[in-house]
Amino acid sequence: MHTKTIDSICKMNGVMPVLKLNDAQQTAGIGRALIEGGLTVLEVTLRSEYGLSAIKQLKQLYPEAIIGAGTVTNVDQFKACIDMGADFIVSPGSTSELLDFGAQSNMPFLPGVSTVSEIMTAMEFGFYKLKLFPASIVGGPSFLKSVYGPLPQLEFCPTGGVTADNARDYLQLPNVMCVGGTWLTPPTLVEKRDWSGVKDLARYASSNLNTMSSYES
Ligand code: 3PG
Repeated sequence: MHTKTIDSICKMNGVMPVLKLNDAQQTAGIGRALIEGGLTVLEVTLRSEYGLSAIKQLKQLYPEAIIGAGTVTNVDQFKACIDMGADFIVSPGSTSELLDFGAQSNMPFLPGVSTVSEIMTAMEFGFYKLKLFPASIVGGPSFLKSVYGPLPQLEFCPTGGVTADNARDYLQLPNVMCVGGTWLTPPTLVEKRDWSGVKDLARYASSNLNTMSSYES
């Protein structure tokens, strides 16, 4: 039974690393660096063959951390992530199959949208907390400001083009619950297995970008 809601998960740190993990050693190094740096909510994508195993590994290593599955594009993957012990599910876009399955499941689910029509479809299935992807391409903070006019009841996690430099532009908006992205694990650091460099990025994000206090209930 999952007791946390998707918005409480998103608001925990305000910043959610999006990860592509390739093997057990890398998963342990990155997981530890991010969690010790203060980012305790991680989205592990299914973009690598090791993705599903990485979810299970991180849940075993850090039972107190919140480990979600990302880049979930179909119902079979959604079910496989439940089996691996994922705490939440993120999809880059929405299909009616995924929205229907997500609405029936008690698993916290953050469906992806990139247009107002997709947002309205997600609302029809009962989803009011959404991932905006690819955020910087579809209009960035200006898109979210425009959506807030007609649809103020929605909250978003923008990802895609978010960095330490522009994260605040999103986080200061009333309809943003957190930002996500891969900038916390840049290839330059990951290739060198520079986990202390990753920890520094995480520490900066957790101490400087967690501006969520005004949204806490
Ligand atoms: C995601 O899946 O959320 C995005 O791929 C993250 O995009 P980024 O690499 O631009 O951070």
